Order: sequence, then structure tokens, then C-alpha cells
Amino acid sequence: MRMSNRITGFQTSPIRRLVPLSRKAEERGIHVIHLNIGQPDIKTPKEAIDAIRSYDKPYIAYGISEGDYELRRALVKYYEKFGITDITPENIMITTGASEAFQFVFLTLCDPYDEFIVPEPYYTNVATFANVCMVKLSPVTSSSSNGFILPSIDAFEDKINKKTMGILLCSPNNPTGHIYSQKELKAILELCKKHDIFLVVDEVYREFCYDNKKFTSILSFPEYADRIICIDSFSKRFSMCGARVGAIVTKNREFLDNAIKMAQARLCPPNVAQLAAVAALNAPDSYVKDVVAEYEKRRNLLVGMVQKIEGVRVNMPKGAFYFIADLPVDDAEKFAVFMLKDFSYKGATVMFAPAEDFYWTHGLGRSQARFAYVLNEDELEMAAECLKEGLKAYRKEVMHI
Ligand SMILES: Cc1ncc(COP(=O)(O)O)c(C=O)c1O
Repeated sequence: MRMSNRITGFQTSPIRRLVPLSRKAEERGIHVIHLNIGQPDIKTPKEAIDAIRSYDKPYIAYGISEGDYELRRALVKYYEKFGITDITPENIMITTGASEAFQFVFLTLCDPYDEFIVPEPYYTNVATFANVCMVKLSPVTSSSSNGFILPSIDAFEDKINKKTMGILLCSPNNPTGHIYSQKELKAILELCKKHDIFLVVDEVYREFCYDNKKFTSILSFPEYADRIICIDSFSKRFSMCGARVGAIVTKNREFLDNAIKMAQARLCPPNVAQLAAVAALNAPDSYVKDVVAEYEKRRNLLVGMVQKIEGVRVNMPKGAFYFIADLPVDDAEKFAVFMLKDFSYKGATVMFAPAEDFYWTHGLGRSQARFAYVLNEDELEMAAECLKEGLKAYRKEVMHI
């Protein structure tokens, strides 16, 4: 049967497409350490789990399309903790994870073949959402050689044309760990103002900042409020990825009045999960603080160990819980397959995401991989050992060097 040309041209996710191989490895008795996906092993706040357990209504009804009012009010209070005091529940639309928010943003702002500028490497699924919405991503390449800092404003401006509808940033960044400074954000906002385009910032890792690095939210620039859209999510902050609760926050009324058409058509975001999200926001502040301290420890351990592996180049990421490593291999995807199909060390192997599909520009990232340091320290130590031994084996047996 014929499928659409559109769908057949899409990528499969480099984060998930090797899962059948990892399952086979596990069936062979190999312990696969999953650093391919940002799935934390940290406990969800007890308050959130209890909220689900104590659900006592006779049926699970549809909720309202913009999201539960109580949740939006709780989010307003949460943003106040960051000194953001001008957001109201009417500025918030709850979405089915940040993932749905990307689609709402692209569909609301762009006609087919309009463009969005994005620094690459980027969160790879953004490319699929852009493709679904027939939006062309226009990449500005950031480089591992300088820690993936924001490319120059001129590089962004060079990409702006009549079809450009906005710039999309992610801070703290998945996959690079870079955190955009207040100065960088202000410069980008000035550029957006000059060309009358939107700035969309994905802040799902807002709290995940290390080395006392300060985070600046895009919501703290009220003077540009009309062109700012913030994407948020409960997935990582509260280790509730499967709840599927995210949000769009914007002062732009026209945007929300149009996006609601899609929100109404998809009826509502997950209803019981929103109760859990409200409860998570009521967890003590120490919950997120402790989680972030744990990730900082994990980062120090894994990045420290990987930096010592011969031929591997990694920058110390400042935020989120990922890093991109330059590997001494011809093709990181081939190497990832080798690790799952043909290799084990002390009964284990490591799974990671080949980074080529985190780039729009063809050929970039071929020898890079993204690692998520989301597991406990014993697992991370074993993963680093497997990577070191796996690289030796791959270079000898496949690359013959
Ligand atoms: C940067 C970034 N944005 C968005 C998402 C998707 O979040 P959600 O689970 O809320 O759909 C992820 C998930 O890994 C992510 O890393």
C-alpha cells in the first residue's frame, strides 16, 4: 500500500530507532546501559504519585482545551519563584508534553515552506515536528570546538529572509548543555524585533544548571513580550516523562487565540496527569534542588571519565543532562549498532544516540554521539568503561586501526 511521500521522507528518531537491537541484546542476557534517552531513574515527587492514587471520580472526563485552570494558576505561582510576576493563567496553554507545543507553535506561526532558524545541533525531534508542519528549519551551526556557544548574531541575521517566522532556542540546551546568557538572549530579541519575527525558547531544563551558572528565562524580558513564546514541560523537572504534561507560555493573545483551534480539536491534555502536575508543583523546593545536585554529580563523573578516553573530545556541559562527544570513529551510527550487536564488556554494553540527526546540515555530526547522564553512578561508571573498551574493539575490528 502506498504511504505519503511526506512521511516516508521523515527520519526515525536517533534516540529510539536502535531499540529493537537493544532489546535483542537484552534477550541475549547483555545488560544494556541506556544513555540514549533522557529518561531519568529519579523518583517522581511522592505528592504527584499520591495525587494519581487518590483519584476518586467515577470516570475520567475530558478537561478543558487550554488545560486545567488550577494547574495554570499553580504554574503562575511557580514562575513567580523565578521573579516572573506578570504571567496570568490566561497566558498559559497546557499541552500534551512540550512535544505537542512544538507542533502548535509551528502550525500557528507558519504556512507551508515558511522557515524557523535554529542553532544546530538541536533537539532532534524538532526536525520531525517541523517536517510534519512543512516548516523548513534554517540551521546556524554551533561548534563543539568552542563549547557550542551561541553563534554570532550576524550568522542568525544572514539566515533571515521573507519566509522567516522565528528563531527557536533551547536553554539549557539539549543536546549541548549550553545555557544562553542574558546578554545573548537580549541580542537575539533585538534581532527578532528588528525583523519582526518571534523568539521561541524551549526551557524544559530550566532548573538544570550547574557550577552555580545563572539561568535567565525568556519570560524575564517583558519589553519584548509580544514576540516571545516559552515552551515548558513537567517531564524532566519532576521525572514524570510519561505523564505527558507541557505548556506554552506567551503574552501574545493573538497566538493563543489561534492555537486554541488545534487545542480544541485535540480536545484536552491528559486530565489525570494534570492533577499530578499540580501536586508536583506543590512538592517542597528541596525536591528539584536535590535532583539537580544529583545530576551535577552524575555529570562530573561521566564527563570526567569520558574525557579521559583516548581520542574522545567532550566539553563539560553547563546544564540539562546531555553532552555531545566527538568520537574517534568513521560513523557514530555504525558504532552504536556495533555496540549493541557485536560487543559486550563484563556482560554489559552502552547505548547512545548517534548525533547526525541532531543536525539539519547534511554530513555534520557523523562522528558525534549524544549521551544522557540520567542513570546512577554505578551504571555511569560501567557505561564509561564499556565505551572505552567498545571504541578500542570497533577501531580494531571494523576500522582496522
Ligand atoms: C529539549 C527538549 N524539549 C522537549 C522535549 C520533549 O518534552 P515532553 O516530554 O514534555 O514532550 C524534550 C525531551 O527529551 C527535550 O529534551
